[in-house]
Amino acid sequence: MTATIIDGKSYAEGLRARIAGHVERLKADHGITPGLAVVIVGEDPASRVYVTNKARQTAEVGMHSEKYELAAEVPEAELLALIGRLNADPAIHGILVQMPVPDHIDPIRVIEAIAPEKDVDCFTPANVGKLTIGLPAPVSCTPLGCLMLLRDQLGTLSGLNAVIVGRSNLVGKPMAQLLLRENCTVTIAHSRTRDLPALLAQADIVVAAVGRPLMVKGEWLKPGATVIDVGINRVPAPEKGEGKTRLVGDVDYESALGIAGAITPVPGGVGPMTIACLLANTVTTASLING
Ligand code: GUN
Repeated sequence: MTATIIDGKSYAEGLRARIAGHVERLKADHGITPGLAVVIVGEDPASRVYVTNKARQTAEVGMHSEKYELAAEVPEAELLALIGRLNADPAIHGILVQMPVPDHIDPIRVIEAIAPEKDVDCFTPANVGKLTIGLPAPVSCTPLGCLMLLRDQLGTLSGLNAVIVGRSNLVGKPMAQLLLRENCTVTIAHSRTRDLPALLAQADIVVAAVGRPLMVKGEWLKPGATVIDVGINRVPAPEKGEGKTRLVGDVDYESALGIAGAITPVPGGVGPMTIACLLANTVTTASLING
C-alpha cells in the first residue's frame, strides 16, 4: 500500500481563492478592507521568508497588508508601543508578531499586549480560553490548517484515536483542543513519553509537531493511519552538493509512505495551510470588529 499524498499546497490555493471572494464582498457590501500587520524582530532568514510570504499573500487576496521589520536589538518597549498603535488603528484587524522573539523580549508580554479581537494567531490568554471552552474566537492557524486537511481526507473524525507528538502552545495544545471538539480520543506525547511507538500503534490520526527531523518512523504507525507532519527542519543534503540542505518533516516520510493511509509532504503539506488560515482569521476578525 502506498499512502495518499495530501496536497496542502493545492488545498491552500483553493482556500485563498475563497478568501479573496469574501474580501471582495466585504469591500463591496460593507466598505470593509480587512487589514493584517505582520511584525518581525531580528534577522533570522527563515522567519523573514515566512513573514514576507505572509505579507505578500495578504495583499494577493485583496487585503490591506503592513509589514514591520524591527532590528534584533529593538527595546521591548518600542515593540509594545508599535503593538499599541496597531491595536488602535482602524485599518488593522489582525496583528501577528512572528515568534520566536529575541531573548531580551518577553514573548508573554508581547502576546498580552495584542488586543484579543485582533489576535489572529489565537495566542492571547482570552482567546486560548475561548478555544478551550468552545466560544467563537480566532483559531490557531497551524492547527486549523491541519484540521481542515484531516476533515477533507477523513470526513468525520468522531471516535478516532489521535496522537499529537509535541506539546507546544503554538501547535500541540491547540491541536488537542480542536481534535477534542471533533470527538476524537486525544493523546499528547512529548519528550518524556515512555513508549511512543506503543501509542502510535493505536493512532488513527498522527499529528507530528515536535521539531525533530525524521523522528517518527514508518514502522511505528498503525497501518492506514492519517499522518499530518507539521515539522519543517532544514538538514544537510550532501547528495545535492557540498554545503547544500533540504527540508524534512518530523516524520520519516519514506518509511511512512508504505504504511500510512495518507500523509502530508514537507514542503507542500501543512506549511501553505498555515498562511491561508491566517488570512481566513483576518477576514473573521475584520467581520467581528465591524459587527
Ligand atoms: N512562528 C512559527 N509559526 C508561527 C505562527 O503561526 N505565528 C507566529 N506569530 N509565529 C510563528
